[in-house]
Amino acid sequence: MADEAVITRGYFITFEGGEGTGKSTQIGLLADALTATGIEVQKTREPGGSPGAEEIRDLLVRGEPGRWDPMTEILLLYAARNDHYRRRIEPALAAGHWVLCDRFADSTLAYQGAGGGIELETIRSLHSLVLGRVWPDLTVLLDLDVETGLERAGQREETTSEGGETRYERMGGAFHDRLRQGYLSLAADAPERFAVVDASQSIAVVAGDVADKVAGRFDLILEPRS
Ligand code: TMP
Repeated sequence: MADEAVITRGYFITFEGGEGTGKSTQIGLLADALTATGIEVQKTREPGGSPGAEEIRDLLVRGEPGRWDPMTEILLLYAARNDHYRRRIEPALAAGHWVLCDRFADSTLAYQGAGGGIELETIRSLHSLVLGRVWPDLTVLLDLDVETGLERAGQREETTSEGGETRYERMGGAFHDRLRQGYLSLAADAPERFAVVDASQSIAVVAGDVADKVAGRFDLILEPRS
């Protein structure tokens, strides 16, 4: 009988942080560094990441800040997350690819929970109903002061074609302060899963810190490629 190839499941790494913390840049750099070691990588994002979830994304990121009742909003987020996880993330991990995801469930805990005032336990119950025990293998939290982040996000709006995706950016400074503290406390509660990186540093230094944390966690040698 011919030997069957054994496929090792990939790792699921998420990036989290407030507005303008540089997640997508850092995901691109980490993807390049991992690919250079021969790992197959898939980059994705939330809300979105699968065709159906991208349609739901449009409902969430555009329009007035008060457009949705908080419960409707978390149901929309979890409808999108379920589609994305089952149709895209899980098949990729099963095929041995590493998945780098720009935001995941910690965004709901931080934005709708800490920022929006929904009980974290309500969100966690919905999470286990929809996804059971699925949580990332590693979550990189890019931490940055609110003012710098919103300024960077404002500049990005002027230079990208995704104009109009400003619903959360317009939620006000107090919301974003709660959001940052919420993220830091999620990280403090789960230090085995989170790696907190100071995102006020240059892109190259942040990339080096991210590479060190990923290499340490998964026992790899990584050259940051910024
Ligand atoms: P992005 O700008 O990082 O692509 O994310 C879109 C917005 O969606 C961002 O402002 C954060 C928000 N968001 C939530 O409020 N809750 C969530 O669960 C997710 C995934 C994103």
